[in-house]
Amino acid sequence: MMARLVRSCQITARDTLYEFDCPELAGKARPGQFVEVALGEGDSSFLRRPISVFDCDGESRFSLLVRTVGRGTQRMTGWEPGREVDVLGPLGNGFRWPERAGVCVLVGGGIGLAPLTYLARRLLAEGWKVRLLFSPRREDELLNALPQREELEIRCAENRAHLPEVLEELLANADCVFACGPEGMLETVARTTMERGIPCQLSMERHMACGIGICLGCAIAVHTPEGLTYKKVCKDGPVFRAEEVSFHEQP
Ligand SMILES: Cc1cc2nc3c(=O)[nH]c(=O)nc-3n(C[C@H](O)[C@H](O)[C@H](O)COP(=O)(O)OP(=O)(O)OC[C@H]3O[C@@H](n4cnc5c(N)ncnc54)[C@H](O)[C@@H]3O)c2cc1C
Ligand code: FES
Repeated sequence: MMARLVRSCQITARDTLYEFDCPELAGKARPGQFVEVALGEGDSSFLRRPISVFDCDGESRFSLLVRTVGRGTQRMTGWEPGREVDVLGPLGNGFRWPERAGVCVLVGGGIGLAPLTYLARRLLAEGWKVRLLFSPRREDELLNALPQREELEIRCAENRAHLPEVLEELLANADCVFACGPEGMLETVARTTMERGIPCQLSMERHMACGIGICLGCAIAVHTPEGLTYKKVCKDGPVFRAEEVSFHEQP
C-alpha cells in the first residue's frame, strides 16, 4: 500500500521521525508491529527495510523513528513531504495485551525505544502507570521524540553496567515488562524479570529480507516444551516472551 509522507523531523544527528498519512495501515497497526518500507527507485538491493510502528493515531496517521545506519536509511533522510512511499504491513505479532491495568515497565535501549512509544500511548489510555527505563543516558536526546513524555516516569541508565541497578528500582510493584534494544541488554532484562516472576515480552531484531515468513532469513532460537527450535522473527515475532528466547544458541 502507499503511504504519503506528511512531515519529517530530525530528532538527533542520526535519528529522524517520519509521519505518514495512510488510513489503511493506521487503522490496523497494533503496538509492537512493524512495516517493511520500500526505498524506491535507485535502491539496488531491492530489499525493503523493517521499521517498527513508532506511533499511530488508530485512524489515519502513523509514524516511524529511523536511525541512519546505512545506505537505505540514509536514502530516507532525503524524502520530502508529499512523497508516496510503498509500505507493507502492519507485520508481525505485536505485544500481547496485559490483562488488567497496573504498573508496567518499558525498557528501551537506544533506537529500541521505537516500538515502545505506541505501546506507552495505548497503556496510558487504559489507565496503566508507565515507567520507562532508557539507556544509555548519552542518547537521551532521543526521548524528545516521545509525544507522551510528561505522562511517563522516566529513568535513564548510564550504560549497560548501570542498567540492573535502575531496573531493580523500577521493578518494585511492577506487573509486567516490555523491552527492545541490544541483545545484551535484553538478556539482562529477561534474566532479572524471570528471577522475580514478572511477565516480560521482548521485541527482537534480525536481518530481514521478505518480512513475511518466506525466505527463512530471520531465524531465532527459542525454547519450547519439546526442546530448542527455530522461529521466524518476522512472522512468529518480533515479540517473544522472555523465557522463550535462547540467547546463547542463536543460528
Ligand atoms: C522488526 C524490526 C524492527 C525495526 N525497527 C526499527 C526502527 O523502528 N527504527 C530503526 O531505525 N531501525 C529499526 N530496525 C532496524 C532497521 O531495519 C535497520 O537499521 C535497517 O534495515 C538498516 O538499513 P540500511 O540500508 O540503512 O543499512 P544496511 O546498509 O543494510 O546496514 C547498515 C548496518 O546496520 C546493520 N543492520 C541492518 N539491518 C539490521 C537489522 N535488521 N538488525 C540489526 N542490524 C541491522 C548492518 O549489519 C550494518 O552494520 C528494525 C529491524 C527489525 C528487524
Ligand atoms: S524475513 Fe523472510 S522469513 Fe523472516
